Amino acid sequence: MSDIYPQGFRQFEHQGWQEIASRYHEGFAVVTIQAVPALLDAARVTKGTRVLDVACGPGYVAAAAAARGATAMGIDFSSEMVEEAQGRYPGIDFREGDAEELSFPDSSFDAVVMNFGLLHLGRPEEAIREAQRVLKSGARVAFTVWDTPDKAQGMGIVLEAIQKYGNLNVPVPPGPPFFRFSDPDECRRVLGAAGFVDVTVENVPQTWRLSSPDALFDVMYNGSVRNAALLRAQKPDVLEKIRDEIRVQVERARNELSMPAVLCSGEKV
Ligand SMILES: C[S@@+](CC[C@H](N)C(=O)[O-])C[C@H]1O[C@@H](n2cnc3c(N)ncnc32)[C@H](O)[C@@H]1O
Repeated sequence: MSDIYPQGFRQFEHQGWQEIASRYHEGFAVVTIQAVPALLDAARVTKGTRVLDVACGPGYVAAAAAARGATAMGIDFSSEMVEEAQGRYPGIDFREGDAEELSFPDSSFDAVVMNFGLLHLGRPEEAIREAQRVLKSGARVAFTVWDTPDKAQGMGIVLEAIQKYGNLNVPVPPGPPFFRFSDPDECRRVLGAAGFVDVTVENVPQTWRLSSPDALFDVMYNGSVRNAALLRAQKPDVLEKIRDEIRVQVERARNELSMPAVLCSGEKV
């Protein structure tokens, strides 16, 4: 598989993140922050580590790294997200930047981490190559993505509801398969091809405790990019059926969804 989704997808994602930056914290963040300790462990972030948090969003990973005594920096291509991060953690260096074209010299970091960023990139292999370039020899990259929708229930419930009542083939800008890196073999293949060794892939259990049976639909509709576009492209009567179905499924799960992450890491030779 190669990077075949350049500008249209990138613009779509960029516009989406700009719009939802202020809502991200009260939506997905309650889940994505659960993977942070394992992500930092996989990248061996400790006191004194110089770490780059790529696609940092509101800055949770960089902040947790700084709390370990690391020297953390975060980059995100959304200026709104960078503002969120700067407001939340004023002592940390957050900048606008592109995961696929890092503005740092070769061999300048002891660790590169990306929490739920890779699945949003049009050219994920480019981001892995860039991480490899800016890492020092012997340093590690680590990233997380959602597990497949049969395991990450919040994803599965929404996609199944759209499939059941609506249409998944609506005109949203085509991007790489959302669950591509949920496959451990694909993680190993891509990191291996970029020259990483000692590649490990593990599962990180996470739980999404929703405030109400409607919260899953609301977060997806108002606080995501690709899934929101899929939902917004449905006809109004169909959308109501999808909303009802999602509510029923969340009620059935007693407002508590399993949302495991796949965590992959590797070492630069
Ligand atoms: C799901 S959020 C993850 C935020 C954060 N890492 C966390 O732990 O919750 C994905 C982030 O990726 C950023 N992003 C997407 N494409 C990017 C790119 N090409 N370069 C840098 N950031 C990007 C978005 O702006 C968004 O902040």
